[in-house]
Amino acid sequence: MTLRSILRSRAFAVATALLAFVLVVGGIVFFYYLYPALRFGPAQPIPFSHRVHVTTKEIDCRFCHFSVARTAFAGMPSANKCLYCHTYIIPQHPQIVRLTRYAEQDVPVPWRKVVWLPDHVWFSHQRHVLSNLSCTDCHGAIATMDRVRDLTRKNMGFCITCHRARHAPEDCWACHK
Ligand code: HEC
Ligand code: HEC
Ligand code: HEC
Ligand code: HEC
Ligand code: HEC
Repeated sequence: MTLRSILRSRAFAVATALLAFVLVVGGIVFFYYLYPALRFGPAQPIPFSHRVHVTTKEIDCRFCHFSVARTAFAGMPSANKCLYCHTYIIPQHPQIVRLTRYAEQDVPVPWRKVVWLPDHVWFSHQRHVLSNLSCTDCHGAIATMDRVRDLTRKNMGFCITCHRARHAPEDCWACHK
């Protein structure tokens, strides 16, 4: 077989078409699914934008994350809390219709966790927030995000660096109880 006959063969045409197909499908999967996931963090059951609510509408973090200064856990808003506004604001929006269904069925919205620590680490928001740290010190520019992503991996160095700088506890039992 000469090079020319290979180039003209049906098998070569099929192989080329297949390769092009794989590249196109791979490209679509990458740009529509994988790339956004790398840039924006995981998709949520209802696409909720901190940018719209915090930056544009100026809603305070603590309106939704209501227990952040009182307990270990920051607190997540119930669907009913969203409906304080959304009973009146864009109630026909398809995502708000879905939100209303969660509230009617009394099922919590299954938000996916983005920021987390392993079980062997003890962390409480209360003391941190009361000692005048700002949410951005640990969570970055959530206020500008359309889809929350954890910008700083919460490893041990993340905690210790700040504790050292601010003379907060560095003994093992403080964080590993
Ligand atoms: C204090 C009032 C208020 C609360 C509370 C509130 N929202 Fe909104 N939300 C708004 C306003 C205002 C808009 C912008 C409406 C518009 O674009 O006309 C909006 C827009 C939206 C949109 C559409 C965004 C888009 O890109 O089109 C969704 C979805 C949404 N909110 C979900 C939620 C969820 C989920 C909660 C609860 C966790 C919530 N909202 C709580 C006021 C509120
Ligand atoms: C109108 C309600 C609302 C306001 C205001 C709000 N959040 Fe949220 N927040 C949510 C909802 C709903 C989620 C879960 C969906 C998501 O991750 O987008 C969330 C998720 C988060 C998460 C990730 C939680 C996890 O389980 O990993 C962090 C961190 C966070 N918010 C911080 C903030 C900070 C900081 C502010 C203020 C700058 C703020 N939020 C203001 C409703 C709100
Ligand atoms: C000192 C660092 C630090 C500060 C300051 C901080 N957070 Fe967090 N936040 C964390 C860590 C670490 C987690 C993960 C906790 C876990 O998984 O046990 C977290 C988790 C969260 C969550 C998910 C729910 C939860 O409690 O696990 C929300 C919502 C949140 N933070 C909101 C806020 C808001 C709002 C503020 C400001 C008022 C704030 N955080 C300030 C470190 C911080
Ligand atoms: C940006 C600075 C900063 C970061 C980051 C930080 N801390 Fe702290 N932490 C402090 C300060 C300041 C105190 C002292 C508060 C006081 O004495 O009232 C403190 C106190 C504590 C305490 C003792 C008080 C309590 O709440 O029981 C624990 C435990 C703790 N931090 C755990 C952690 C863990 C775990 C992480 C990482 C996930 C972390 N911290 C990240 C600043 C920070
Ligand atoms: C200020 C909080 C804090 C203090 C103090 C602290 N740790 Fe940690 N430690 C963490 C966090 C957060 C993780 C989770 C790291 C991760 O998920 O990558 C961790 C993880 C670990 C791990 C699991 C391995 C790893 O790196 O993930 C070991 C072992 C450990 N710590 C030992 C210690 C010892 C020993 C001390 C005392 C010298 C100590 N830690 C003090 C916050 C702390």
